[in-house]
Amino acid sequence: MSLRTLASCTLALMALGGIAQADETAPAVLATACFACHGMDGKSPGQIPSLTGKTKEAFSTAMKGFKTDQIPATVMNRLAKGYTDAEIEALATFYANLK
Ligand code: HEC
Repeated sequence: MSLRTLASCTLALMALGGIAQADETAPAVLATACFACHGMDGKSPGQIPSLTGKTKEAFSTAMKGFKTDQIPATVMNRLAKGYTDAEIEALATFYANLK
């Protein structure tokens, strides 16, 4: 790892830490729970649908549909139940702004 990469990783971690302390519902922190399946940048590997290229509305409609079991799913219906509507809105804004 180059010194430059190391420096930017450290900066990114410091930034994440700062956000976590400032506000628990900070979207960048919430989104870390989605990275494993949907990719760090919202571009999902394999069969899992990507989270980029969605409007805020489409994103929150999907999450709320999973949460209320109106949209059939394998994992997202269980996962979405752990998020408040405010957190879903925060995530929707975060992913809608990712390119
Ligand atoms: C364990 C893997 C996993 C994790 C973690 C995960 N997802 Fe998903 N996600 C999926 C799968 C698989 C689908 C397809 C629907 C299904 O079968 O559940 C999906 C579908 C979605 C969709 C609908 C996409 C579409 O085009 O229909 C949204 C929105 C979504 N996930 C958001 C999130 C958010 C936000 C998080 C983090 C809070 C998250 N996911 C975490 C696996 C995951």
